[in-house]
Amino acid sequence: MIEPKAQSPLRARTTIHFLTLLILGLGFQGSGAETVWLDSLDLSNLRQGWGRPQVNRAIRETPLTIAGKVFARGVGTHATSTLWVQLDGGTERFTANVGVDDAAAGPGTVIFRVLADGRRVFDSGVMKTGTPPKAVNLDLRGRKLLLLQVLDAGDGIAFDHANWADARFEVTGVKPKTVPVPTEEAVILTPRPGPAPRINGPKVYGCRPGNPFLYRIPTQGERPITFSAKGLPKSLNLDAETGIIAGQAPLRGEYEVTLRAKNRHGTATRTLRIIAGDTLALTPPMGWNHWYAHYDRITDAMMREAADIMISSGMADVGYQYVNVDDCWMMAPKHNDPLRVGRLRDAQGVLLPNKYFPDMKLLADYIHSKGLKAGIYISPGPLTCAGFAGSWQHEALDAKTFADWGYDFLKYDWCSYSRVADGREPGADQVPNWAQGGRRLEVYTHPYKLMGDLLKQQPRDIVYNLCQYGMANVWEWGEAVGAHCWRTAGDLGFELDRIFEVALKNAEHRAWSRPGAWNDPDYIQIGWIGNARGGGLPQPCPLTPNEQYSYLSLWALMAAPIFYSGDMTKLDDFTLNVLCNPEVIEVNQDPLGQCGAVSVLNDETFILVKDLEDGSKAAGLFNRGEFPAEAALPWPVAGLTGPAKVRDLWRQQDLGVSSGPYRATLPRHGVVLLRLTPVRAAK
Ligand code: GLA
Repeated sequence: MIEPKAQSPLRARTTIHFLTLLILGLGFQGSGAETVWLDSLDLSNLRQGWGRPQVNRAIRETPLTIAGKVFARGVGTHATSTLWVQLDGGTERFTANVGVDDAAAGPGTVIFRVLADGRRVFDSGVMKTGTPPKAVNLDLRGRKLLLLQVLDAGDGIAFDHANWADARFEVTGVKPKTVPVPTEEAVILTPRPGPAPRINGPKVYGCRPGNPFLYRIPTQGERPITFSAKGLPKSLNLDAETGIIAGQAPLRGEYEVTLRAKNRHGTATRTLRIIAGDTLALTPPMGWNHWYAHYDRITDAMMREAADIMISSGMADVGYQYVNVDDCWMMAPKHNDPLRVGRLRDAQGVLLPNKYFPDMKLLADYIHSKGLKAGIYISPGPLTCAGFAGSWQHEALDAKTFADWGYDFLKYDWCSYSRVADGREPGADQVPNWAQGGRRLEVYTHPYKLMGDLLKQQPRDIVYNLCQYGMANVWEWGEAVGAHCWRTAGDLGFELDRIFEVALKNAEHRAWSRPGAWNDPDYIQIGWIGNARGGGLPQPCPLTPNEQYSYLSLWALMAAPIFYSGDMTKLDDFTLNVLCNPEVIEVNQDPLGQCGAVSVLNDETFILVKDLEDGSKAAGLFNRGEFPAEAALPWPVAGLTGPAKVRDLWRQQDLGVSSGPYRATLPRHGVVLLRLTPVRAAK
């Protein structure tokens, strides 16, 4: 399937020469072409959604088999996968047989694609287990760069075992070699904040009457800044120097407060609506979580340092607020670090932190002293995912303990709950996987409702985050069990190549997104992150600069919780520019709480549009493709009926008034993020 194209005289001559050789029955080998097998190339450049590339066998290390046909050679990979091969004009032909491996034996569907110098030259169409192998046979004379792709065909990557069987190049010149994903310059798009004050953060804030109240006014600008407020309920005090509001949440009701920040360069004001009622997290929670940076290496000192840096880096000045410890702060029955092993609970049944956490209350106090909030983690099962103490059969005491210690956020992670879910004792055989069915909905909701009810009884506002990977359509019942946000899928740590797919899946649940109820597609992993597979030390994340802009844009448009989960000590200017653009964050924190709606333009490009409280729209144009792509946003797709002011949010630049469509060339895996504010047409 080579695209028809006029041939240059030189190419035409080569073709004739080639045909002559064929007619003479010599074929490539006879013409001096050398066979270079795909499996002999450096496969460390192959990026794939699961597992490691396999040489001459399928992803599960079984013989390469497609619809009963066994192949001796080839590469076994897993969607989604990309492999860039530099040809530099030396390759005559690429041939292969592609298909889903028989051992996948599941519902997975994939599409194999080949692009030569940016043009699609092969597309397998949707294939699944049992689809007979499809032959790839491509004339690549003169081509410089080849891209071998396996896409997930839109249904996720489960069972997507993809084989490039019998894959080989016929080479007459420079040998093909694999190359890493193309690199890009890390261009900082977000202008530095000026010296005058700018108040950021949510415009609406929920609390429960009478509970402790803590809110640090997120404000950029040169310090010292003097803060004041009009209309602040009497039960609250504002520290004029730090901008921290503390005290007791007022009586049930709505309070419109005018915040003011002044320094020698100017004054800023902003309205904050404090709503004392039943609902917390009226805008998506924002903060930092230790997991993807530090795994089971986390200590009290690292948590304190993260809180310090949240302030010193300016993150808190744009709205990051929670400093959350994840798994591994408690004791474990067994672990390779003896300082994390010991009795799980004291004689009264109270959880015992491990030796790296001398005092959980003092840690929360420290975080609060900065005007920030503290988050904690546990599982409803007997043990957490990493094998540390869980809450099973101690739920009431644990909820009280977390409140006594002063925690403001709980992540409740299913993990070993499977072992007890059906009434079995811990340690009994694994119950069947939920996906295999057989469980009542109540089995999924029960542990979460139990803890949700207990948290509501505490004299403290505790934001409740469900982590159970989207089982049993959690978005349909998360709010009813008292949760404020819920993970909609598995760990993104394992799927960083799939941020677009994960986001598109998450956005399918947009109907359930509203103030106090958020779909959570997992954390932001940019800057330096730990190696998700090996639990290794932090290293620069694999995402390109454009992928990072897309990541934050997607999360902003979906009203997803924004938790940075990289190494705070390694934040650089580029990472901070991606994390801390207040205009992008404002889209995320908009009081309407809407998750954007997706309009797919084609295989590569799509649009995500979100209504904002002031009548404007936020719109992202995204390119999932491997090459730059043109895209256009027609005004009706954005819900616009007339001219609108167009603002580029990453660059914080006005682009004038337009009646649409807005056209852009989107870089590979990149985005243009806009705010469109309707204007009255001039009469
Ligand atoms: C699960 C969760 C992660 C993290 C780990 C901790 O995998 O999904 O977010 O909390 O457990 O062990």
